[in-house]
Amino acid sequence: MEVKTSLLDNMIGVGDMVLLEPLSEDSFLENLKNRFDHNEIYTYIGSVVISMNPYRSLPIYTPDKVEEYRNRNFYELSPHIYALADEAYRSLRDQDKDQCILITGESGAGKTEASKLVMSYVAAVCGKGQEVNKVKEQLLQSNPVLEAFGNAKTVRNDNSSRFGKYMDIEFDFKGDPLGGVISNYLLEKSRVVKQPRGERNFHIFYQLLSGASDDTLKKLKLDRDFSKYNYLSLDSAVVSGLDDATNFRTVRNAMQIVGFMEDELQSVLELVAAVLKLGNIEFKPESRCNGTDESRIKDKNDLKEMCELLGIEQSVLERAFSYRTVEAKMEKVSTTLNVAQAYYARDALAKNLYSRLFSWLVTRINESIKAQAKTRHKVMGVLDIYGFEIFEDNSFEQFIINYCNEKLQQIFIELTLREEQEEYVREGIEWTNIEYFNNAIICDLIENNQNGIMAMLDEECLRPGTVTDETFLDKLNTVCAEHQHFESRLSKNSKFLNDHSLPHNCFRIQHYAGKVLYRVEGFVDKNNDLLYRDLSQAMYKANHSLIKQLFPEGNPAKVNLKRPPTAGFQFKASVGTLMSNLQTKNPNYIRCIKPNDKKASHVFTESLVCHQVRYLGLMENVRVRRAGYAFRQAYEPCLERYKMLCKKTWPHWRGPAREGVEVLMADLQVPTEEFSYGRSKIFIRNPRTLFFLEERRKQCLQDLATLIQKIYRGWKCRIQFLLLKKSQIVVAAWYRRYAQQQKYQKIKRATTVVQSYTRGWQARKLLRELKYQKRCEEAVTTITAYWHGTQVRREYRKFFRANAGKKIYDFTIQRILQKYFLGLKSNIPSMSPIDKNWPARPYFFLEGVHAELRRIFHLWRCKKYRSQFTEEKKVVYEEKLEASELFKDKKALYPSSVSQPFKGDYLEISKNPKYQKLSSVVDEKILLSDMVNKINRANGKCSARIFLLTKKNVILADQKTGQVKASLPLLDLASVSVSTQSDGFFALKLKEGSSSAVKGDFLLSSEHLIEITTKLHRMGATTADREQLYIDISDEFLVQFKQDKVCVKFIQGGPKNGNGVSCKRKNNRLLEVSVPTTP
Ligand SMILES: Nc1ncnc2c1ncn2[C@@H]1O[C@H](COP(=O)(O)OP(=O)(O)OP(=O)(O)O)[C@@H](O)[C@H]1O
Ligand SMILES: [Mg+2]
Repeated sequence: MEVKTSLLDNMIGVGDMVLLEPLSEDSFLENLKNRFDHNEIYTYIGSVVISMNPYRSLPIYTPDKVEEYRNRNFYELSPHIYALADEAYRSLRDQDKDQCILITGESGAGKTEASKLVMSYVAAVCGKGQEVNKVKEQLLQSNPVLEAFGNAKTVRNDNSSRFGKYMDIEFDFKGDPLGGVISNYLLEKSRVVKQPRGERNFHIFYQLLSGASDDTLKKLKLDRDFSKYNYLSLDSAVVSGLDDATNFRTVRNAMQIVGFMEDELQSVLELVAAVLKLGNIEFKPESRCNGTDESRIKDKNDLKEMCELLGIEQSVLERAFSYRTVEAKMEKVSTTLNVAQAYYARDALAKNLYSRLFSWLVTRINESIKAQAKTRHKVMGVLDIYGFEIFEDNSFEQFIINYCNEKLQQIFIELTLREEQEEYVREGIEWTNIEYFNNAIICDLIENNQNGIMAMLDEECLRPGTVTDETFLDKLNTVCAEHQHFESRLSKNSKFLNDHSLPHNCFRIQHYAGKVLYRVEGFVDKNNDLLYRDLSQAMYKANHSLIKQLFPEGNPAKVNLKRPPTAGFQFKASVGTLMSNLQTKNPNYIRCIKPNDKKASHVFTESLVCHQVRYLGLMENVRVRRAGYAFRQAYEPCLERYKMLCKKTWPHWRGPAREGVEVLMADLQVPTEEFSYGRSKIFIRNPRTLFFLEERRKQCLQDLATLIQKIYRGWKCRIQFLLLKKSQIVVAAWYRRYAQQQKYQKIKRATTVVQSYTRGWQARKLLRELKYQKRCEEAVTTITAYWHGTQVRREYRKFFRANAGKKIYDFTIQRILQKYFLGLKSNIPSMSPIDKNWPARPYFFLEGVHAELRRIFHLWRCKKYRSQFTEEKKVVYEEKLEASELFKDKKALYPSSVSQPFKGDYLEISKNPKYQKLSSVVDEKILLSDMVNKINRANGKCSARIFLLTKKNVILADQKTGQVKASLPLLDLASVSVSTQSDGFFALKLKEGSSSAVKGDFLLSSEHLIEITTKLHRMGATTADREQLYIDISDEFLVQFKQDKVCVKFIQGGPKNGNGVSCKRKNNRLLEVSVPTTP
């Protein structure tokens, strides 16, 4: 059976006393000493941790250690307070069990340190975060504050807790701290006014005077010198290892972290200062004439300063120190206080002031650290109560403290010894009873309601008549005399009659941790805890917010004549509540042991340790543990927890749970001596067996976890796959959608583009049209405008001066033209085309017009003239025109012919009978008939001839006979030659080769030469089938006479030749014609 044995590894001595062999007190102490010497200050008894105070700091509380113990099995590592804290925290977090850490041990054994270690461990391992850290910090920082006000140096402990403290730390379901609640139990307030020799007042007084700045002290009207204050014991004011000044700053800082406001802090310090001042108020006796003693304040300076500090009227307080007013049944009786009473009143006020301040501090801290969330909390309670103590002089406070420790011992016994043994019996486990001392009897002696010491004390306090501490002791002596744990000289128990260690004014109780001698002096007073009403009322009147709060009973409006419950009664009640509270939680024990009385390290005083081991009942604890079983569990949860270790029980066991567990254990082959079956539980003797089970379970859990992981991973992968598949479909769908969308968008965009282009085009077209239309409209408008403008201008132009010039000009021009035209009309020349007259031009600018008009007029006149002509006359003029064209400026004869009308038929052949014959021969119409001279070719003599011209022929006939001499077809005529001169000669030249040419050309002379030649030419022009006859005008030309060509030459004849034309044949070749010179 392989078991992890880290607890046993490298072990100094035995880590768990249960494993101690042989078990005896000596070996027990030896083991403790051995371990202590090796700095192993923690040792287990099962789950109980024994802590030895090392009186020096050990390197076992480092963050590494915290990590080492974090989430580890309790027995896995060497014993440590962290293991217990971890176990408790995990049990709270994981199993939802409220926990309490019960730290017990006598004064100086290390309870407060242990409680702080537990808290710091829990703070280190629980959740983190800004809010959580703040809560943690506030919870942790509440310690220095309370220690400063509630701890003091005693002979046993330099930092002795003078109050009981129980702190509930609240966690949420995750194990994160939410807040906390602190309960405080009876502060040892007598210490404020008086401290036993070698002890000090509460730390805060020394810290304030050492650590506060000069300024603060001045404000508080304090002096740094301790010796100035009566309440501060001087002999041990300075404690080695305690730096009051630094601690003051720590406390101040802690108060700020916890949430104290600056003014609250100031008020607290003012109260502390007031207590010191109060201690300095001294009284002197003064006898009055009526014989009574009175007291007077010696030096009122301190009183004055105190009153200033607290805002109290000095006279009010002064009176309160001098008188005592008792109210009973509507009656008020004032009595003067003597010096002793005055001192009593002063101290009572100081004690009350301080203890109420302390309670207020706790309430204030609770306000800050209380959990905000309203959800269900898990709670871990840490109890750090003042330790059991035995002084030389033990008073009411020690009685209370020790009673409290007695109760704690009781609860320890109840839960670890009695309860356990009873359980074995109940479960039917074979069990040999182990004897142990049960301190219930001592508890009963103290707290019994009928005859308990506290009940007696209360009875005495409430009893009418004179009550003194002595009467109380008497009462005890009568009532408790028979009690085995009560000892008194005056009790009837003869045993103590001669016991000189027992003074008369004392009683002794045999506590579980030893005998303690209590001196009854002050018991009644302290139990009554009376503060004269005058003082509380004076305090209430203070102009100081905190003081007013602390003394609510001083309010005259709320006078309560009922006596307040006694201190003892209150304490008993609160301890009762605490005990029942602890019983509801899962207890975790830390048993603190102090190794020596000298507060020295490395010193192990065996007798002292032995004493503690005895009264703490540690041996019995080990015995019970060893004889019994280390672990027990009901069958159901046991089976539930370990069923996976056996195939038969896994995953379900159908039968009863016990049988299941039996099968399980058998299957695991756990030796039978290692466990027992109870009625409802299985009892496992050895932790190793439990470790074995746990180890197997852990292994199995790992396997199961692997299996679960495997299945889970498979499932997760499948889910993942399905999810991926689903996602893929979704993605694909989305993608397709996206792609289609893109495509669609693209098409849409394209469509839009096309559309836009089309629309653009259409729009542009439309625009063009519209523009055109607009332009048209504009044009129309413009035209209309212009037209209208024109119209208007036209209409109004006459009114425009600008136009006047032009108008005048136009008008003038018009007038000129009019005048011109009218003048022209009146002076228009004759209609004769030859009239050359034309009126003179009036203006130069009319030059062109004038000439043109002249020309037009002339043309018009000619036209008019021509239009009068008959057809015949027209022909005549045509001939005249042709004659002009032919001869004008070419022949000298021409001008004379112009005036001669072309008669044509000069001879009137048809009419003249003389020519009848001839007319009969010529059947054609005769166009011209005239007498001509035919020039003889030989001599140039002339012979007359009748010349006839018809449409086709030229006929020459005899003048006399009328016989036709020659008939020349016009077709045979080649040309007619004439001279340039004024003669009437003309030659008819025949075409060579024609039938008529045989006789040669004819040289003729006529008076009507121009007419004859013109008509010949015209005939040529009108006859379509004939070439136009060529008229040759020249003074020399050749004529064909038979075979010869003769040149006819015209010369200007002299006067000798007369006026006639003479013609002479000069030679064969030349025929000379002389023409008289024209004048
Ligand atoms: N674990 C520890 N490591 C170092 N020093 C320790 C340890 N525990 C206690 N001490 C020392 O012992 C002194 C007394 O311890 P502590 O104040 O815790 O005793 P206590 O049991 O609370 O006494 P009281 O009942 O008087 O309050 C401490 O001031 C410290 O110096
Ligand atoms: Mg303490």
